[in-house]
Amino acid sequence: MRLLVENIGCLVNTRSSQQLLRGKSLAELPTLTDAFLIVENGRIADYGKMVDLARLPAENMDKYDAAGAYVLPAWCDSHTHLVFAASRENEFVDKLKGKSYAEIAAAGGGILASAQKLQLMSEEELFELAWGRLSELIALGTGAIEIKSGYGLSVEAELKMLRVIQRLKMESPIPVKRTFLGAHSFPIEYRDNKEAYIDLILHEMLPVISNEKLADYIDVFCEEGFYTLEQTRRILEAGIGIGLKAKLHANQLSASGAVELGVTVGALSVDHLEVMTESAINCLAGSNTIGTLLPTAAFFLRMPFQPARALIDANCAVALASDFNPGSSPSGNMNLVVSMSCIQMKMLPEEAINAATLNGAYAMELENELGSISIGKRANLIFTSEIPSLAYLPYSFGTNLIKKVMINGIWYKT
Ligand code: NIG
Ligand code: FE
Repeated sequence: MRLLVENIGCLVNTRSSQQLLRGKSLAELPTLTDAFLIVENGRIADYGKMVDLARLPAENMDKYDAAGAYVLPAWCDSHTHLVFAASRENEFVDKLKGKSYAEIAAAGGGILASAQKLQLMSEEELFELAWGRLSELIALGTGAIEIKSGYGLSVEAELKMLRVIQRLKMESPIPVKRTFLGAHSFPIEYRDNKEAYIDLILHEMLPVISNEKLADYIDVFCEEGFYTLEQTRRILEAGIGIGLKAKLHANQLSASGAVELGVTVGALSVDHLEVMTESAINCLAGSNTIGTLLPTAAFFLRMPFQPARALIDANCAVALASDFNPGSSPSGNMNLVVSMSCIQMKMLPEEAINAATLNGAYAMELENELGSISIGKRANLIFTSEIPSLAYLPYSFGTNLIKKVMINGIWYKT
């Protein structure tokens, strides 16, 4: 059966051809006012202007009156740590009292505290918690998501996390991409023998991941106090060796050379980028690697926001993602990410929407499935409540303007 959505006030990001958006092209957001859209078998079958609807051959279709709503492709969130055992608001309060992220991590808090709790939790319980979060995010308009391991930090617990992510992928109505982040931190017991933990990653985790096909991507937290450039390179190359593409936590707390390394190994994306140098920006601009900005993490940690304008002006391909995790971004709300990108990083609404949809899809290799209103793509769509203009979306931050979400052509209900 076909569903005709009529009276769409504005259909956003309509494309008959596409490419990764970089530099000036990020501000070009094609739209169609007074539009219709036809959904068939969970996909976009057609779209056009209401005035042209009469020209289509008459047929019996279910109808939905969008009553002037704006209709957007669902958000493509290409960087999350959705699977975790417990929140960390205790550290949040410690930080309010003056402790730094690095101090908390050095004292066994942070990622290590999350790992301790996750190691004790059953696969079933972890799945249930993550499923609840995922459902909440879909209702907020997320239509595709990447999820990382990295709170296991032992062979058993990393594989447990990847199996939870695998089950989310199998059971979720939205596409899930799986990233192995065994190199997120060093377990306490390996603090003085880091090579031994890297050996576990290379010789105990990666072979199982390869045999059981448990991941799409490999990621490393390349940062002072975490993984050095040299360690990062070895781990990424081993992952690439078993067919995983690289993604990278790069330049979050320092200009470590991680961006340049990511570009050298052909990473799909380098993510965070709070601390950038001119040469790192130019290096990224001259590559096919996507720079994924995570403004809610910068916001939550009170870091300088990512230099989005400098990146875009230098012709980089920029995506936006939530970094949902209990330590640095306890929100996966992509509407807030889009708002914050405009408010704090001076991205134009058109740029932010493109970066959170089409470029986010590219950052998960889902560009042929999602990220724009294009014939044949999945009907994962956001329907807004009544808004006066597109700019109103990021402008009215904190207000939920999403009236309905459609996933695979079906209205999503939590
Ligand atoms: O992307 N930077 C490293 N990893 C996460 C934070 C992890 C945590 O604090 O639990 C991030 O910000
Ligand atoms: Fe992250």
